[in-house]
Formats: sequence, C-alpha cells, structure tokens
Amino acid sequence: MINILKLYRFLFIISFMVGVSLLLIGCDATARHKVLTTIFDGVPSQIPPEEVLDDYYNKRRQAELDAAAGLASKEGKIPGRHISKHLPYAEKKCKDCHDFSTSVGLVKPPRELCFVCHRDFLDYILEPYVHGPVAVGDCSACHLPHSSENTSLLELNRNEICDKCHHEERLAVAMHDKVMNHGLACVDCHDAHYGQARYFLK
Ligand code: HEC
Ligand code: HEC
Ligand code: HEC
Ligand code: HEC
Ligand code: HEC
Repeated sequence: MINILKLYRFLFIISFMVGVSLLLIGCDATARHKVLTTIFDGVPSQIPPEEVLDDYYNKRRQAELDAAAGLASKEGKIPGRHISKHLPYAEKKCKDCHDFSTSVGLVKPPRELCFVCHRDFLDYILEPYVHGPVAVGDCSACHLPHSSENTSLLELNRNEICDKCHHEERLAVAMHDKVMNHGLACVDCHDAHYGQARYFLK
C-alpha cells in the first residue's frame, strides 16, 4: 500500500516536471522567468542580462540576414538600420550646424537652426493654418537632426508620430476610427506642417 502511494507520488512529480518543461519550451525569457518564479522559490529575481541580449542580438542578426536576402523583417523595420540620413550630416558638413566653441554647440539657437537652410519654411509659417510645433520652430519635436530608422528623419514611424502628442478626443470620432482601421496614416490627409485649409487638410 505504502509503496503504491510512493509510486503515485513519484509519477505525479514526474508528470508535473514534464508539464513545467513543456510550459517553458517556446516561451521567451520573460515568460519563462514568470513561470519559474510562480512555481519555485529561489529563482533569481532578474532575467540574466546575457539572455535578454541574446534574444535581441538573435533578432537583429536574423533581420540582417533577411535584409541581405531581400526579405523585409516582420516588424517592417530593421533595428539599427538608418533608412534616412540628413544630407549635410551624410556629407560630414558638421560645421554647417555645429559650433562646438559655444555652450549650445550649434551655430544658431535650436528653434532657428532648421530655417537656416529650410528657408521655404519661413514662408510656410505665414500660411493661414500652421501646425503648433512648426509655428514655434520646434522641428525637433518630430525630426532627428542626423539620421533616423524612419523615413524623413522622423523620430517615430510616420504612422505613430502624431500619437506622440494627440490623445485628445476627435470631433469626428467615427470618421477617424473608420479611416484609421483601414490603415491610413494621419499624414495621408493632414499635412504635418501647414495648410491652406483648416486642420491642414491636404
Ligand atoms: C542639420 C544640422 C546638423 C548637422 C549637419 C550635424 N548636426 Fe550634430 N546635432 C544637431 C542638433 C540639432 C543636435 C541636437 C542638439 C541638442 O539637442 O541639444 C546635434 C547633436 C549632436 C551631438 C550631441 C550628441 C547627440 O547625438 O545628440 C553630437 C556629438 C553631434 N551632433 C555631432 C555631429 C557631427 C560629428 C556631425 C557631422 C558628421 C554633425 N553633428 C552634423 C544638428 C546637426
Ligand atoms: C546646413 C543646411 C541644413 C540645415 C541647417 C538643416 N537642413 Fe534639413 N536638409 C538639408 C538638405 C540639403 C536636405 C536635402 C534636401 C533634398 O534632398 O532636397 C535636407 C533634408 C531634410 C529633411 C528631409 C529628409 C528626407 O529623408 O526626406 C528633413 C526632414 C530635414 N532636412 C529636417 C531638418 C531639421 C529638422 C533641421 C533642423 C534641426 C534641418 N533640417 C536643418 C539641409 C539642412
Ligand atoms: C508634428 C511633427 C512635425 C514637425 C513639428 C515638423 N515636421 Fe517635418 N515632417 C513631419 C512628417 C510626418 C513628415 C513626413 C510626411 C510624409 O511622410 O508624408 C515631415 C517631412 C518633412 C520634410 C520632407 C519633405 C516634406 O515636406 O515632406 C522636411 C524637409 C521637413 N519635414 C522639415 C521640417 C522643418 C524644417 C520643421 C520645423 C520648421 C518640421 N519639419 C517640423 C512632421 C513634422
Ligand atoms: C510635439 C507635439 C505634436 C505632435 C507630434 C503633433 N502635433 Fe498636432 N498639434 C500640436 C499642438 C500644440 C497643436 C495646437 C493645439 C491647439 O491649437 O489647440 C496641434 C494642432 C493640430 C491640429 C489642429 C487642431 C485644431 O483644432 O485646429 C491638427 C489637425 C493636428 N495638430 C494634426 C497633427 C498631425 C496630423 C500630426 C502628425 C503628423 C500631429 N498633429 C503631431 C502638437 C503636436
Ligand atoms: C481620411 C482622412 C483623415 C485621416 C487619415 C485623419 N484625419 Fe484628422 N481630420 C480629417 C478631416 C476631414 C477633419 C475635419 C473634421 C471636421 O471638420 O469635423 C479632421 C480633423 C482633425 C483634427 C481637428 C478636429 C479635432 O477632432 O480635434 C485633428 C486634431 C485631427 N484630425 C487629427 C488627426 C490625427 C492625429 C490623425 C491620425 C491618427 C488623423 N487626424 C487622421 C481627415 C483625416
């Protein structure tokens, strides 16, 4: 009798272990850590950094291999790959923007710098409707000065950049929900900078 109980207990433990290992296979490091800490005591409280980095570098390596083979990565962008480069930066004309002898390190205050070359924007900001951050010369609210993983030197993806500031309820909620569900970007209808029409509609 006692032996049978022991046998059952043994079998139970074995199947429990198998179950746990099955749970762990195919999980990422974070999920694995969660399962382990739920079941066992004494599991280190952090995911070992090497493991996180391994995941990162494996993904990055795969993205590079895919890119070399002409495949786009699943996320549609390759980490670390700079797809837009500012021409004066690429041509190493650093001094067109920088004066490292000043405390700011720039030839002009940040809110005037971009207008030095993008002179057309001095006209745009006289248009009937000008976007708030553009009107005050805050180009770096959306753009990076050197290079970017996104198009047009954007700090965030073209589809996400507006979301950085605009969380307010839309007047035309239904219309906006509908078009956004059809994969349109805000800048398909709205100009990011200025416009002749209200809300800079194109
Ligand atoms: C189009 C103008 C422009 C050009 C060209 C340019 N920079 Fe910059 N750079 C900036 C701006 C704007 C900043 C951000 C300054 C800030 O945020 O205070 C910056 C920041 C920097 C910084 C500070 C660290 C950082 O990355 O934020 C370094 C270093 C730097 N630039 C080096 C360079 C070098 C080297 C070159 C030439 C290869 C160069 N820059 C070309 C505009 C430019
Ligand atoms: C020294 C001159 C110079 C300054 C200063 C300058 N730019 Fe440019 N910028 C250029 C040139 C040249 C191009 C390329 C224009 C072209 O291809 O027609 C360019 C292109 C761009 C583009 C388009 C990039 C693309 O891939 O489509 C953006 C966005 C931009 N600049 C933003 C800025 C911002 C933001 C600033 C201020 C931080 C700035 N620029 C300051 C010279 C300058
Ligand atoms: C609110 C965010 C935002 C601000 C602020 C902003 N831009 Fe842009 N800019 C964009 C977006 C988004 C695009 C790309 C539009 C697209 O993909 O259709 C863009 C594109 C550009 C381009 C590429 C050519 C074009 O017109 O499409 C230039 C040059 C440029 N911006 C310069 C500037 C300058 C100079 C300033 C400051 C006076 C500025 N931007 C401020 C969002 C912004
Ligand atoms: C850096 C913050 C910032 C980002 C990013 C930004 N906006 Fe704005 N936006 C503003 C501010 C500030 C106003 C002025 C708000 C006001 O007048 O009440 C504004 C106003 C507007 C308006 C006019 C609203 C009205 O009632 O007149 C529209 C349309 C708009 N933004 C569209 C966009 C689009 C499209 C994008 C993405 C390309 C974008 N914004 C990205 C800050 C931002
Ligand atoms: C299919 C075209 C289209 C797209 C895509 C679109 N809009 Fe609009 N948007 C409009 C029109 C049209 C209006 C004017 C609505 C009205 O007059 O009631 C407007 C109005 C606005 C306004 C001013 C009125 C309000 O509700 O505050 C803002 C801000 C705005 N849009 C931001 C955005 C942002 C942010 C995105 C991306 C998430 C976006 N829009 C995408 C067409 C579009």
